[in-house]
Amino acid sequence: MQSFRNHRIDRRRFSIGSAAAFAAVPFMPGINLAAQDASPAAFEGGEDQLEIFSWWTAGSEAAGLEELFNAFSATAPDVEIVNAAVAGGAGSNAQAALQTRLQGGDPPDSWQSHPGEELLARYVEPGFCEPITYLWDEEGWNDAIPEGLAEQSTIDGEKYLIPVGVHRGNVMFYNRQVLEDNGVEIGDSISVDDFFAACDTLQGADVTPLALGSIDGFEAPHMFECILAATLGPESYNGLWTGEVGWDSEEVTSAIETFARALDYVNEDHPALTWDGAMEYVLDGSAAFTIMGDWAWGNVVLQEREDEFGYVAAPGTENAFITVVDGFTLPVNAPHPMNAEQWLRVVGSAEAQITFAPFKGCIPARTDVDTSQLNEYGQWSANDFANLPSLPSNAHGAAASPQFQSSISEAIVTFLVDKDVAMLQEALVFGAEDAGLGQ
Ligand code: GAL
Repeated sequence: MQSFRNHRIDRRRFSIGSAAAFAAVPFMPGINLAAQDASPAAFEGGEDQLEIFSWWTAGSEAAGLEELFNAFSATAPDVEIVNAAVAGGAGSNAQAALQTRLQGGDPPDSWQSHPGEELLARYVEPGFCEPITYLWDEEGWNDAIPEGLAEQSTIDGEKYLIPVGVHRGNVMFYNRQVLEDNGVEIGDSISVDDFFAACDTLQGADVTPLALGSIDGFEAPHMFECILAATLGPESYNGLWTGEVGWDSEEVTSAIETFARALDYVNEDHPALTWDGAMEYVLDGSAAFTIMGDWAWGNVVLQEREDEFGYVAAPGTENAFITVVDGFTLPVNAPHPMNAEQWLRVVGSAEAQITFAPFKGCIPARTDVDTSQLNEYGQWSANDFANLPSLPSNAHGAAASPQFQSSISEAIVTFLVDKDVAMLQEALVFGAEDAGLGQ
């Protein structure tokens, strides 16, 4: 096969324009289309396919991905897009399937990854990714992507990923009618104590207070990291992942106790339920709350039911933004390297990101977009993202090495059954030691 670098030279010969000018004007909830009515920039790379790998198969995820596909197709209408998505929240099945492909020398043309530890350990260190620093330079992404995200996408001075969207992990969604029926009021934020008081009221009325799905192994760790952020505060939370704050601290004990208490209010069938199954309980009124990343809000947008539901920072976390970033990579030996490169140009463009965001429930990774074009949720999130400390997510690959991440998930699976606070803390301390976090 011709080397990637040669393909790149070919691509420059064939490419007529950058993705920045394509016209993607499908229905976009809450978005003003006028500003994006530009002509498509044609792209002719001479390759017939583009294979994209992700785990975006649930409602809002699939809808968001479709928007990115539409954006690509607007620039390259003759290219067949092969959607190689593997279902399972937070990549629970996809990441293993992708490893098998990469190790077998069978990469897709691009795959979804979180920047940070996941990008580094799973993909860049083993040599599966091509640097895309030249694309950052050519497309002006250095001026558009916030510094923190750019840093997380950079390894040894080279960029390996273009961020597409920024999710907030620490959000609690609620069913307005269920709360109203039970006399529970939610303001702009909610403390942990007020949350538990609301849960007591709801449980007393035979309503499931907190919907949880734990089938994919990331959902309970996701809830736990929200509780860690609430209990420790942003600075100490960050210190847990750098080794500056000990996992044996009293604050961590207290966070685990709060976690155990929260689990008293969840649906019993959580081991058989996905994150979107849990969100469905809130949507159909059988539960009041769920704590999840804002991809869950995408499902509300998709059903056009924004008036019936509310959102607030997860209890006690209104001063923090747990950041879950999605991006795409360029593989070594991409089967269709010119299309792969065009895909990255498209998903890095302002137009694609602003079209994608409401469906996916995220905000664009680019900060040079006019946030008044976002829906109400997006404006809330963009404002908090701009003003609050950004905390890395462990459940979504940024904070810890894959090994530490999976030892946390495994320990939490056990905890869901035995609720043994000391045992969980011990497992976390061991996991941190193994990860070289110096305790
Ligand atoms: C996250 C990912 C989100 C969303 C979520 C649930 O890891 O960043 O985009 O897909 O998993 O599957």
